[in-house]
Amino acid sequence: MPYEHLLVSVHGEGPLKTGLVQLNRPKQMNALNDRVMDELGAALLAFDQDESIGCIVLTGTDKVFAAGADIAEMADYDFIKVYKANFISRNWETLGRVRKPVIAAVAGYALGGGCEVAMMADFIIAADTARFGQPELTVGLVPGAGGTQRLPRAVGKAKAMDMVLTGRMMDAAEAERAGLVSRVVAADELMQEVLSAADTICGLGMPSVMLAKECVNRAFEGALSEGLTYERRMFHALFGTEDQHEGMDAFLAKRTPQFKHR
Ligand code: HXC
Repeated sequence: MPYEHLLVSVHGEGPLKTGLVQLNRPKQMNALNDRVMDELGAALLAFDQDESIGCIVLTGTDKVFAAGADIAEMADYDFIKVYKANFISRNWETLGRVRKPVIAAVAGYALGGGCEVAMMADFIIAADTARFGQPELTVGLVPGAGGTQRLPRAVGKAKAMDMVLTGRMMDAAEAERAGLVSRVVAADELMQEVLSAADTICGLGMPSVMLAKECVNRAFEGALSEGLTYERRMFHALFGTEDQHEGMDAFLAKRTPQFKHR
């Protein structure tokens, strides 16, 4: 499949190699529209099924991992549309189905759906420029791709509530202290560090690597599906509010939103 918004490449010298998927929609800050998510799902599944691939790395550009779901695309959505289409389950949950290890390499902004996609990876290695946030409330939504469930599991309730309710960003150092990322490295060393970690994984036995991933995920997946379903319904419901349209219109018009229901 020719990708419009992704760069895909293969790295490494050993029998098992690393598949690298780079989000490449820089003018829109790698905003995750439907096309990007279709492509991302296809690229990840292709690497997952490729027997020469032992590990997958997902990254963005120097400035931005991804600034969230595409606000311009969502601005006119309403409750009936998102509920019927089961937005975003159709193509956002593919990452969660990948059985090989996925490392997110994050430089710059990972916001909203961008932060959620990074958290769907098995672990995150961050550049010192990384900034994580869940600013959905500022556009009249709640996180809709697992943020309300995965963020508290990663950083605890206090920091998760702080980030979700205020929309404040966490820098790379705080993200490492809080346990959101496994390592922080200088921005110009990010890809070298991540590809080296991926290469280490490629040198191990795939069955134990894949089983280990399943086992560690078991530690976190108790009631996750219930939480995700609940979160999705609340996310859908907000498309029925005036404040969602106001929040998104204001963002696109570069003005301060005038929320009606304060
Ligand atoms: C659509 C976006 C976008 C987004 C940025 N752009 N983020 N377009 N959706 N999420 C566009 C801008 O409109 C602008 O387009 C261009 O990218 C450059 O962005 P600027 O804002 O001019 O850049 P900068 O001043 O450097 O600020 C960067 C930023 C900011 C801090 C990342 O863009 C920002 O706050 N973005 C929105 C973040 C956000 O609210 N994310 C949550 C979305 S909701 P033009 O045409 O003017 O050049 C979400 C829900 C997930 O993610 C739930 C599951 C689906």
